[in-house]
Amino acid sequence: MTKVGIIGGSGLYEIEGFEFINEIKVSTEYGDPSDSYRCFHFGDLELYFLNRHGRNHSFPPHLVNYRANIDGFSQLGIKNIFSFTATGGINRSYRPGDIVIPGNGIDFTNGRRHTYFEENNVHHIDFTEPFCPVLRGIMAEAAERANVPAYRGGTYLCTNGPRLETAAEIRAFDRWGADLVGMTLFPECALAREKEICYTNISVITNFAAGTTTEKLTSDEVVAEMHRAGEKLKRLMRNLPAV
Ligand code: HPA
Repeated sequence: MTKVGIIGGSGLYEIEGFEFINEIKVSTEYGDPSDSYRCFHFGDLELYFLNRHGRNHSFPPHLVNYRANIDGFSQLGIKNIFSFTATGGINRSYRPGDIVIPGNGIDFTNGRRHTYFEENNVHHIDFTEPFCPVLRGIMAEAAERANVPAYRGGTYLCTNGPRLETAAEIRAFDRWGADLVGMTLFPECALAREKEICYTNISVITNFAAGTTTEKLTSDEVVAEMHRAGEKLKRLMRNLPAV
């Protein structure tokens, strides 16, 4: 069987429709992961699902223990991770409900424990391409098979949160070339690379980014749109081939 890690974000707390096998609590030298890892079987896949924000959404984006979460996957022998995130759309082509498989990213977070390489253990990973091209291709193919339209490419800018952005920030991010904005991709993707785990992201556009619409943003809207996208995300996973 091929082991695959799945990180669920806001509004994607469960993956249903797969055979539940067991739940594994992992402890790490970096502290506790957000939740236990739940194992599901599906065809030739052994999926390990982790709730990024904890079971009751206990950990907001700036307080997630990203190091423990990724180290837990590494301890479980996971070599491939698909992560799911809720995002605001900056690119004018995007609409709420759209799915994006980003091609690159900008880290605008601060104060997060973002590396395993500390004193006496320095290593500078190459991060020109933050996402695994193989997994991106596999997810794009799954989207085609599942008949779920998905944008392939686009730059995800990660803010620190938990507040949403100002209109001026979004205008600046737009000029930098950012297409979508969220709060959780970094340092998660970089830590996965440090652990030599292939990682790719699937983002749901849950709202128009701040200032690009006259409507006020609320976190309820984000969660509601993630729920609406839930069926599409499940279809994507059900169409994953063995990786
Ligand atoms: N900004 C930042 N994070 C988000 C957004 C947003 O507009 N929507 C969902 N997560």
